[in-house]
Amino acid sequence: MKVAQHTTYNKNKIALNLTEIAKPAIKPNQVLVKVTAAGVNPLDNMISRGEVKLIVPYKLPQTAGNEVVGLIEEIGSNVTKFGIGDRVFGRLPLDSIGAFAEYVVVDSAALAQVPTYLTDVEAAAVPLTALTIMQALSLMGAEAGKTIFISGGTGGVGGMAIPIAKAKGLTVITNGDGANAERVLALGADRFIDYKKEDYTDLLSNVDYVLDTLGGAETEKQMSIMKKGGQLVSLRAMPNGEFAKRMNLPKWKQFLFGMVGRKFDKMAKTYGVHYNFIFVESNGQQLQEVADIFSKLEIKPSIDTVYPFEEVNVALDKVANGRSRGKTVLSFK
Ligand SMILES: NC(=O)c1ccc[n+]([C@@H]2O[C@H](COP(=O)([O-])OP(=O)(O)OC[C@H]3O[C@@H](n4cnc5c(N)ncnc54)[C@H](OP(=O)(O)O)[C@@H]3O)[C@@H](O)[C@H]2O)c1
Repeated sequence: MKVAQHTTYNKNKIALNLTEIAKPAIKPNQVLVKVTAAGVNPLDNMISRGEVKLIVPYKLPQTAGNEVVGLIEEIGSNVTKFGIGDRVFGRLPLDSIGAFAEYVVVDSAALAQVPTYLTDVEAAAVPLTALTIMQALSLMGAEAGKTIFISGGTGGVGGMAIPIAKAKGLTVITNGDGANAERVLALGADRFIDYKKEDYTDLLSNVDYVLDTLGGAETEKQMSIMKKGGQLVSLRAMPNGEFAKRMNLPKWKQFLFGMVGRKFDKMAKTYGVHYNFIFVESNGQQLQEVADIFSKLEIKPSIDTVYPFEEVNVALDKVANGRSRGKTVLSFK
């Protein structure tokens, strides 16, 4: 079967190697998925550049691709919740990625049924982003009736975070480029702040939760609008010791990330809030919950460009350098 592999870690040039390898065999808890579409993410480029080596040290060559949609062709003897021919999607487990391939073997616990209203290409835009939000809300211990501020809600994460947070009963405040205000309010946001015209730190206080998609100087600004005891989850700032512990990383990495993230832990202490960092993991159950929410609301993720699998390197370049207005997806049809 044809696959696209990371063969070297290179900071300056991202080029996956298209090659042929044997079709893999499944274990009792796994299924064989014939891939029909795969989401292309900044994470794929980060892996090529060696930027996540400390979190997940891949042994090269490694078939690339974190997010998959496809049809089940074979089922392991322990798998009961799926049948042959089911259309499934998922964020692949950290230690067994490989969506940029004609076939991929996946632990069935990582997969969910694709909602029927979504095409394969649209479905490929969902798992990684939706799971990021589910895992952030879970880490916050988000409770219905409380308020969340989602920074940069006009982007890809915001497009899914807003409806998911609303479905979970939260009051949602977000900011971003004013040109997108109407679209974002239509997703269910209760309040939109144009970041080019107004400073949210002058307008907001007592916020229970923050989903920080921006990092940099914005992380501290967001801490300043929170209620004492509030929970902030960042997707962009630094991993910390707590993150390393949760990921079960070895003790020396827990120490290292403890040092790296100390600045944010100390900052959070000053504001009386809690700082968290996440790296999205596979979870079929959480993804099924999202699929059910999406099926009710018929949310359509926005797609930027679809490339044939053979053009995987062009797609990665687009994600690295283009101003995306939605997801880049590989099609295998
Ligand atoms: N840790 C994880 O597991 C994980 C998982 C998923 C995503 N992520 C990361 O999360 C980040 C966000 O992802 P995304 O897909 O939403 O990015 P995106 O689609 O590029 O969206 C970012 C949005 O933020 C807006 N923005 C920029 N500066 C702003 C500011 N100062 N105040 C308010 N809004 C501002 C942008 O508007 P303009 O168009 O005006 O610039 C844009 O609409 C990325 O860095 C991604 O890598 C991490």
